Amino acid sequence: MQSLSPSQMVEPDRVHRLAYTSQEIFDREVENIFEKIWVYCGHESQVKKPGDYHTLQIGRQPMVMVRGKDIKVRVLYNRCPHRGVELCGNTHGNTGSNFVCSYHAWSFHLDGKIESIPLMKGYDGTRMTRDNPDCSMKAAARVDSYRGFVFASLSPTGPSLLDFLGEAKIAFDDMCDRSPEGEVEVVPTCHRVMQHSNWKFFMENQLDSLHPSVTHQSTGVAAGRIEKQMQAGGTTPPLYYHYLSTFASSFEQWDSVQTINFPRGHGVLKAYMGLRPQDPDTKAYEKLMEKAYGKEKMEEYLSRSIHHVLVYPYLSVQSPLQQLRCLRPLGPNKTLSEIWHFRLKGAPEAIYRRSLWYYNLVNSPATMINADDLENWTKGQWGLESTGSDWVSFHRDFGRDTIENGVTYSNKGTSEAVMRSQFKAWSEYMGGAK
Ligand code: FES
Ligand SMILES: [Fe+2]
Repeated sequence: MQSLSPSQMVEPDRVHRLAYTSQEIFDREVENIFEKIWVYCGHESQVKKPGDYHTLQIGRQPMVMVRGKDIKVRVLYNRCPHRGVELCGNTHGNTGSNFVCSYHAWSFHLDGKIESIPLMKGYDGTRMTRDNPDCSMKAAARVDSYRGFVFASLSPTGPSLLDFLGEAKIAFDDMCDRSPEGEVEVVPTCHRVMQHSNWKFFMENQLDSLHPSVTHQSTGVAAGRIEKQMQAGGTTPPLYYHYLSTFASSFEQWDSVQTINFPRGHGVLKAYMGLRPQDPDTKAYEKLMEKAYGKEKMEEYLSRSIHHVLVYPYLSVQSPLQQLRCLRPLGPNKTLSEIWHFRLKGAPEAIYRRSLWYYNLVNSPATMINADDLENWTKGQWGLESTGSDWVSFHRDFGRDTIENGVTYSNKGTSEAVMRSQFKAWSEYMGGAK
């Protein structure tokens, strides 16, 4: 069974379980996908001053994003060219004017070039000369950014960042356009969650409208009950009750929320929560937005129908609430997710606080939402590791979506068009470069 090729694993309406469980497949994903495509490294505001760095992993590679003396943001392999020791051992910090290796004190400029080697005479006559590139830290093959969001690709060839993002670039436009200054700033710490399941569970789940009113029923129903009690008592319930109560919307309501599925597996789940209450904070914010952009643009920016944007295969951006979830797959059944939050520059503090509620309610260690998702995915992983059946079903509304110019529009929100589209992209990636 292990000899199935990725293309044999993916049929238009079902997928073989080994796509989620096989180490061989995972290794191939790392090589063909994660170590080739544009991977999100962080936001420029994470490394404001020269020497500021942030470490991350791209595929199997330890990397460091660093601000240089020339203000440029670079992404380098976090590895000493001498004997391989990681140069930055922390998740973030400021390295001063250079990187110094903790093992034998080789030092490097912030652009990765060798600065000094102690007792250099010992290398006389060897090939380890200062002008040998092997003496310096290696840089990611390509680095680019879009609206302050920094990406790197370890492959020198392939689509440009904008081509890779395609329609999914709306994630970053939508988030930044909601700031009166057109920019966001990262909140310096993130939630980190270790999933004991394959990364695909997360990506599928983000646009899976069939699960919230089942998985999150207890939370949604309880929040809805309080919301109604407050309304009955003449109080306007805070928006965070609404965040939770909508999880328990009816299947009919979920079916009315369309998904749009783009090439390369990217996708959008349209909006289903009302995020423009007419309270004084929102009114003050809208006034600032109108001043910055004019009424028409303000309306356009604040009424886009977006709940999530997926940048396949590893990012979920919830632009209206300024959060971004980034996956770092570590094994077939182990995935690290980093959940980042952003401030809208120039927006009132109350607007930040409001979205912070969502960020914590859904993603903090005390969450009542993500905890239930994580349990499903772990149990899903266990199920797919069994030989109970070889196939995962994506038959829901198969053949009933609308396809135009390579884009699949679901006619029912609960259509499994999302998973079918993601696996189409997956098998193309696994068949070769894309
Ligand atoms: S391993 Fe870095 S200086 Fe030796
Ligand atoms: Fe969920």
